[in-house]
Amino acid sequence: QHSPNIVLRRIQPSDLEVLERIHGELFPIRYESEFFHNVVNGRDIIAWGAVDRSRPGSQNDELIGFITARVVSARESEIGDLLRYDSSSIEQVLVYILTLGVVKAYRNHGIATELIQEVINYASSILTCRGVYLHVIAYNDRAIRLYKTMSFKCVRRLQNFYYIKGQHYDSYLFVHYVNGG
Ligand code: ACO
Repeated sequence: QHSPNIVLRRIQPSDLEVLERIHGELFPIRYESEFFHNVVNGRDIIAWGAVDRSRPGSQNDELIGFITARVVSARESEIGDLLRYDSSSIEQVLVYILTLGVVKAYRNHGIATELIQEVINYASSILTCRGVYLHVIAYNDRAIRLYKTMSFKCVRRLQNFYYIKGQHYDSYLFVHYVNGG
């Protein structure tokens, strides 16, 4: 067993193929090809990947984990009502995590924790940002435990939010407040 050397970096156009493949492996939901193009080209989406520098050859730069997110207007978001009232005219924003995943062989090494922390740091660096939020399917205990460990609070349960292979599933909405949000 070799010891991994995990490094985080921004996602780039050359990640397209691997990013699309591991999303397909990790999620029950299909994403449009346009989504992946937007992610790797940074069009309205910010994304970080994890790579293992100890892998041989070009694999040392191949994604083994990813997190994708988008900056949204707090007022127009579905949790605008939960934020502290702000009388200034400056528009507040939130960071919405779209997808997060780590391939099986690399789980329970803290990689998702690091990816989420990267997004929290990014959100905190935006002075007008009040929080990071996400949806998670109600049966995903592993992810839910991780969000709670990282001080995300469950603020809502959304009935039948997901529709997968003819079945409806609820989702939880989790928020991690930043900058006094
Ligand atoms: N060594 C050992 N364990 C550690 C270490 C470490 N260095 N660091 C953290 N851990 C623990 C964590 O505390 C955590 O414990 P907890 O569950 O009791 O809180 C546990 O290991 C898992 O944390 P990570 O290792 O950071 O998480 P991992 O890299 O295994 O990824 C993830 C978790 C993303 C949920 C993964 O299982 C996965 O990809 N699942 C399939 C896709 C998925 O469900 N994604 C989330 C959907 S929701 C959304 O995308 C918005």
